[in-house]
Amino acid sequence: MPAVLRPYHPSDQPGLYRVCLATGDAGRDAASLYRDPELLGHVYAGPYPVADPELTWVVVDEGGVAGYVVATADTQAFDDWLETHWWPVLRERYPRRADPGDGTRDHVLVGVVHDSPRIDVPAGFPAHLHIDLLPHLQGQGWGRRLVGTLTDALRARRVPGLHLGVSAQNTGAIAFYERIGLRVHESYDWGRRMVLPID
Ligand SMILES: CC(C)(COP(=O)(O)OP(=O)(O)OC[C@H]1O[C@@H](n2cnc3c(N)ncnc32)[C@H](O)[C@@H]1OP(=O)(O)O)[C@@H](O)C(=O)NCCC(=O)NCCS
Repeated sequence: MPAVLRPYHPSDQPGLYRVCLATGDAGRDAASLYRDPELLGHVYAGPYPVADPELTWVVVDEGGVAGYVVATADTQAFDDWLETHWWPVLRERYPRRADPGDGTRDHVLVGVVHDSPRIDVPAGFPAHLHIDLLPHLQGQGWGRRLVGTLTDALRARRVPGLHLGVSAQNTGAIAFYERIGLRVHESYDWGRRMVLPID
């Protein structure tokens, strides 16, 4: 089966989580960093298609979900939604925990679940996205097509722009984002906040 890009279906959720983990260490496989293989998906992929299923697309091939873009049109409203509908159950399921000192990072994500830090949304760029493709689909235009599909949908909703955060270590993703038109809005120790106007 050749790879196809299509709208999200609820049955894609396990695949979304799988791809999220397989690309979750600044673009590389994060499986060895998490004892709980679902945590990364709970934070960075799962809530988006629940909050707004019309803004997630997947690339699927014979192995199942091999890539996705998830997004929200309004980051502040999404953060409010998370606070009401997403974090409370996860906070019960994942009590705060100390760093076990073995290199795993579950405790960091559990901290995010509890503290749910909000960013200052760059003015004029209310949407944000996460995009991930398994290695065998990278470099074939799927990333550009996924972002293009998303920006078409955001444009139809009259959303003026999107932002995203990318790790400084993920130089490939930064190059990709610059190539498809994003620019650096602000640089931090951890990475870059990048923005894309949607006209
Ligand atoms: C980053 C990612 C989404 C890019 O998607 P992709 O399908 O590989 O990229 P595309 O093939 O659509 O590339 C689009 C353009 O960006 C350029 N580009 C893509 N990756 C690049 C890289 N690593 N270095 C330089 N340029 C790159 C391509 O050359 C292409 O340019 P062109 O269209 O002018 O020829 C994908 O590689 C990926 O999922 N990586 C692992 C997970 C990840 O890092 N996600 C982002 C977390 S913030």
